[in-house]
Amino acid sequence: MRHSASAEPPKPPGVLLAYDEDSVALARGCGDLATHMPITQLARDGLPRQLAGRDCSAIVYCGNLRNIATARAIRAHANAVAGTYRLYFGLTRIDHWARTQAFAFGATAVHPITCVEDLRALVTQLRHGQADECTTISSGQFHGIFTQGQQGDWLSADVVEAAGETVIEEIETVGIGEWLKRVRQHHQGTYQHCMTVTGLAARYGRLLGFSQRDQRFLTEAALLHDIGKAFIPLAILDKPGRLDANELKIIRTHTVEGHRYLEAHANCDPMVLESVLGHHELLDGSGYPNGLSGGQIADLTRLITICDIYAAMIEQRPYKVPLTPAAAAAELEVMVAAGKLDGALVRAFSRLEAELA
Ligand SMILES: [Fe+2]
Ligand SMILES: [Fe+2]
Repeated sequence: MRHSASAEPPKPPGVLLAYDEDSVALARGCGDLATHMPITQLARDGLPRQLAGRDCSAIVYCGNLRNIATARAIRAHANAVAGTYRLYFGLTRIDHWARTQAFAFGATAVHPITCVEDLRALVTQLRHGQADECTTISSGQFHGIFTQGQQGDWLSADVVEAAGETVIEEIETVGIGEWLKRVRQHHQGTYQHCMTVTGLAARYGRLLGFSQRDQRFLTEAALLHDIGKAFIPLAILDKPGRLDANELKIIRTHTVEGHRYLEAHANCDPMVLESVLGHHELLDGSGYPNGLSGGQIADLTRLITICDIYAAMIEQRPYKVPLTPAAAAAELEVMVAAGKLDGALVRAFSRLEAELA
């Protein structure tokens, strides 16, 4: 949800601070800045009347997600208000697991809270409409999609569509360059990569003049292209170095795994499924998993492949320096010359690259 513009004198945006049993003192320390109440009460009774609707723009859940009662209450409340409020998680115990949980619950952003000052700073930023400057609001949706994959859950078409639409909307608001910068600053790993590929694909489709329907397929395919990585061991996925031959063999199964998962757990269009399976195929037949070549590779897949390769080149990885947009574009041309990528599509992509330079 975005802040709406108003002709009336601006009021500070309302912030509700919900705290768990261990965070009572923290919340009291912010009593002059925000209405506060226990998370369990919020989950049970909903927003207090003076905040419901017009004046409340952000909710801060302050607590420890390892506390089962806290996690249950936050999940119930966040589910009930998904898409209506910006949800900030001020976590008193923060680690990879807690961060993942928070995003799976729909977090707009996650902030570590170690003292009253941290919480006051967060609430103050929110009251001044600043806390989004350092975040990307679609990140929670990407996390949610990957978590559903990891758990083997059904992937709802609405969730995928909403995530794609959010990316398109965000890029139209801030521009692709700024959007990629935000993604890069705040998220690591596979879903950061998927966000980058999705952002590039969304912008690419727009530059190619795609219809709304084709634009949706392209964004969806980009969003899901690496969903199969949800089934690859983290030790390989997060390895801070180059993969050995065996690890490469394992990671390459993500195309088949992703395709298999989506076929069984989602209502994807066959074109989208095909590009999830085929996004590492190359026109000269040197790709995987099936060594397809030329006309055997559909246009949608070719577009995803270009975005995927380009994204990997400009991304920060522990073992390599990212290429500049221009250097990455030159590498794409090398691949065109080698017969691996579609020259016409790469030329069209260079219009996008110009926006990043
Ligand atoms: Fe991939
Ligand atoms: Fe990828």
